[in-house]
This record gives sequence, structure tokens and C-alpha cells, in this order.
Amino acid sequence: MTTRLTTTAGAPVADNQNSLTAGPRGPVLLQDYQLIEKLAHQNRERIPERVVHAKGWGAHGTLTITHDISRYTRAKLFSAVGKTTPVLARFSTVAGELGAADAERDVRGFSLKFYTEEGNWDLAGNNTPVFFVRDPLKFPDFIHTQKRHPRTHLRSPTAMWDFWSLSPESLHQVTILMSDRGLPLDPMHMNGYGSHTYSFWNDAGERFWVKFHFKTQQGHAHLTNAAAKVVVGESRESYQEALFGTIESGHFPRWTLFVQIMAEREAETTPYNPFDLTKVWPHGDFPLIEVGVLELNRNAENYFAEIEQAAFSPSNVVPGIGHSPDKMLQARVFAYADAHRYRLGTHYEALPVNAPLSPVNHYHKDGPMRFFPNNPNADAYYEPNSFGGPKEDPSVKEPPLRINGDADHYNHREGNDDYVQVGALFALFDEGERQRLFSNIAEAMAGVPEEIIRRQLVHFHRADPAYGEGVAKALGLAPVSQPA
Ligand code: NDP
Ligand code: HEM
Repeated sequence: MTTRLTTTAGAPVADNQNSLTAGPRGPVLLQDYQLIEKLAHQNRERIPERVVHAKGWGAHGTLTITHDISRYTRAKLFSAVGKTTPVLARFSTVAGELGAADAERDVRGFSLKFYTEEGNWDLAGNNTPVFFVRDPLKFPDFIHTQKRHPRTHLRSPTAMWDFWSLSPESLHQVTILMSDRGLPLDPMHMNGYGSHTYSFWNDAGERFWVKFHFKTQQGHAHLTNAAAKVVVGESRESYQEALFGTIESGHFPRWTLFVQIMAEREAETTPYNPFDLTKVWPHGDFPLIEVGVLELNRNAENYFAEIEQAAFSPSNVVPGIGHSPDKMLQARVFAYADAHRYRLGTHYEALPVNAPLSPVNHYHKDGPMRFFPNNPNADAYYEPNSFGGPKEDPSVKEPPLRINGDADHYNHREGNDDYVQVGALFALFDEGERQRLFSNIAEAMAGVPEEIIRRQLVHFHRADPAYGEGVAKALGLAPVSQPA
């Protein structure tokens, strides 16, 4: 039997084809509540898009542990080989709006939500191991250069290169962005990185610094600028088609999870600040340790409910995983939950896609759309109480974070090298990759004032003279090795 159409209040609907009118020609009557309801609901179908990373593609899957790392962390998801934890993944571009084309040169977001036995752990990382800035005060300015110019309402290469050339710490990420890996073929053919330094802590109360790496098992595949123009000309949704399609056809993409581990005290002796988001930890010093396999194997049934309404936040950690002094990470711990309350509403964490599988017991009250039940004992609605309400558990107390220093605005550019690791990356590129890097940069600099270009050429030169020369040649300029 056909399912009966109802109103949102559950009453059967007699006519969903013809409005209620005075006579066959109209006008319609205000009392046609179904018509009003449909129009009013439609007006509320959109929510604010994410202020960054608006365009995204996601799916459900699992993380399966293949190697024991329980000596570093007490996090339940890493507690045994063979253990499987459900995961939600969302990939994204940074700058494009909700309707942007997928195959655009940009950093890709790589967000994961692990539904563990002790709450949700979110890792909202990127497909790059570093970032453009290392101080969160710079983040809103940086994003303004990636979004539209206030007057032209166009993206502004001048703003981008002006900011980057005045912020040399961006060079590492800019080089990755302009290299082959800056335009992956689709979400399956790229790596993911937690990027920041996080911490692990174990049952003995020892802390280790950790970096997370998800290496694609599909191999790396990229689009050249020219190939991307053809792809975008044919479909603006190439990533959605590829990710949704591969999972629908049963070819489940996989990534191998590795970690790099640094003993807590070792952070005081590395030649670079290991909490600086513009730096990697060289693999030679901190080898990759294999942990498990991430597999995506189930498409969302409703994209809006499960991907658009997904809320990933670096503030979501679980016992055994902690933060680090990284200034950028500290800012993100605040910014994401704040964005979620604005974008999704007070009780965004009660939405099915964001709700943990483990029990939720807190004393937050009321607010818009309060729909979840009371604590089992309704008298225990404050804390402390005498009615058996939920209580804190000191056994999951994180060990103290060793910090020191006087409060000040420390100049993060002082005594901080921005070029050595970029040079190491440039050294990995073969001749073809170098030529594409040069021409991608030259293309991206179209229309930028020469003064800004010359300032940026000095940074390329400092990473490697061949880098500076190559870009200058692609631009038809003489190499520049010194600031004007
Ligand atoms: P290694 O040679 O030990 O590691 C190189 C790393 O670079 C691998 O993770 C590799 O990823 C990645 N890589 C290889 N080719 C490219 C490329 N064309 N574009 C971007 N990444 C590439 O060297 P180090 O650890 O000493 O690092 C050297 C440089 O490599 C760094 O300065 C950094 O720019 C870059 N890098 C380093 C990472 C790290 O965590 N140490 C991570 C990613 C990049 P894959 O195995 O997937 O090919
Ligand atoms: C999304 C802020 C740096 C990765 C967002 C959002 C905000 C934000 C407000 C939208 C969240 C939402 O509406 O759900 C910031 C701030 C940063 C910062 C203030 C620095 C101070 C970074 C860095 C990374 C990153 C360093 C990667 C290492 C992401 C990703 C998303 C995102 C992947 C999309 C999450 C999703 O898929 O829903 N960021 N960000 N951001 N950011 Fe950041």
C-alpha cells in the first residue's frame, strides 16, 4: 500500500497538487496551511555554509588497528590489534563556496570523526603536513586573501601573493599548493595529515608528542592546470562523482595510518620548534610507525544530514589523546565548536551524525531544539546533587602539560627558519615536477604587481636558487636574490 502523505504534525493530506483557492482561478486563501507550510519550510532549507571549507564530499567507514601502539596511548580505539572503530570522513576545498567546482587548485581538508567507546575523537586535518601561518592572529587575514575582494567580488591573486610575500612562513605550504599535490585527481588519491602536533598519553601518565599521517593506498594522482580546466568544463562535481561512485561500486578507498612519536622532553632539543605548524618532523629523525587502515565503505543516505551537518572540532579529544602548545591548535580548539553553535545550533552535538555512540551525560539545559531526554533520574538536573546524577571520573585525568614562560607577544618570525624544509621539499621534485611548479606559480601570479612578485621571488631563491630562477624564467623576469 502507498504510504500516506501527512503534514509535519502527522495529519493526512488530501490534496498535494492544487492550492486552496476561492474559485478555480484564485486567489489562494491564507487558510491553505499546507501551502504556507511548504513555502515557509523551503525558506529555511539553507543554513550558513562553512566560513572556510564550504565545498565538501564525505562518507562513512572504519579504522582497523593493525599494530599495537598502546604503550603510547590509552585511547580505546588503539587498545588492541584488530579493533575496528566507525569513522565519518569529510574532504573539502578551503576557499571555494558551496557550489564551487571540485577540481580547483587548493588545499584539501581531510576531516575524520572516530566514534570511540569513550566519546568522539575528531581529527580535522588537511592533505598537507603544514599550513600557511603559524600564529592564529594571522588566520582571518589569510582567509580574507583567499576569499573574494570586497569591491570586485572576485578572487584576488594580488591579495594572495601580497600576503604570502609578506609572510615568509607561508612558503612551505605555498610550495606544496603550487606543486603537483596541490591539485589531486579526487579525494581517494591524496594523503591526509593531522598536521598539528598532538599528544598521546598512556596509563602510566607519560606524554608523547604525535603527528598523524594517512597515506593513500590508491597512490597519488593529480591534475595539471590544463587537465583540470577540461574536467571542470565537463563537470563541476568530479570529486563527488568519484568518491560516491567508487563506494557505490564496492571499490572502497583505503589509507594506511602512521604516527610519528616524539618523547615529551625531546621537544626541548629539536633544532626547530616541533609545535610550529609550518614545519614537518623529518622522517629520518622521527620514522613513521604503522598503526592501522582507514577504509571508506558507506555513502551517506542524506548528504545534508550526514555531511553538511557534520561538525568536526579539534576540541573533540578522548582519554589518551591531548593537545600541544601549538598556538594554531589552541585557537582551533575554540573556533570550531563556536562555528558549530552558529552554523548548526546549540544542540548540534545531539544530531545523529555528531552524536557519539557512547553514552552522553551532562548538565547543559534547554536552548533551541532541545529534544533529547532528561538524565534517567529527572531530579538530578544540577551538580553536585544527592540523586545519583552523573559524576566526573578522575581516572581519565590527563597528565599535566609542562609549560613555562612569561606572557608576551613573542615575535614568531625571530630566529625561525622558513626556508630549509622548503629546500628539502624542492629537492624531492624531479625536473618535470619543478617545471610544473614554476608554471603553476607563474599562472597564479597573473596580474600581480611586479613589486609583489619580486618580493616573493626572493623567498623562492632563499629556499633554493634554482627555485627562484625557475619561477623568474617562467614569468619572463630576471632572477631576484635580494629584497629591493
Ligand atoms: P622524506 O624523503 O623522508 O619524506 C618525504 C615525504 O614527502 C613523504 O611523506 C612523501 O609522501 C612526501 N613527498 C614525496 N614526494 C612529494 C612531493 N612531490 N610533494 C609533496 N610531498 C612529497 O623526507 P623528510 O621527512 O626529510 O621531508 C622532506 C620534505 O618532504 C619536507 O621538508 C616536507 O616538505 C616534505 N614532506 C615531509 C613530510 C614529513 O612528515 N616529514 C610529510 C610530507 C611531505 P608519500 O610517501 O606519500 O609520497
Ligand atoms: C573548517 C577555523 C586552521 C582544517 C573550519 C571552520 C572554521 C575554521 C571556523 C568551519 C567549521 C564549521 O563550520 O564546521 C580555523 C581557524 C584556524 C584554522 C580559526 C587557525 C587558527 C586550520 C588548519 C587546518 C584546518 C591548520 C588543517 C590542519 C579545516 C578543515 C575544515 C575546517 C578540514 C573543514 C571541517 C569539515 O570538514 O567540516 N576552520 N581553521 N583549519 N578547517 Fe579550519
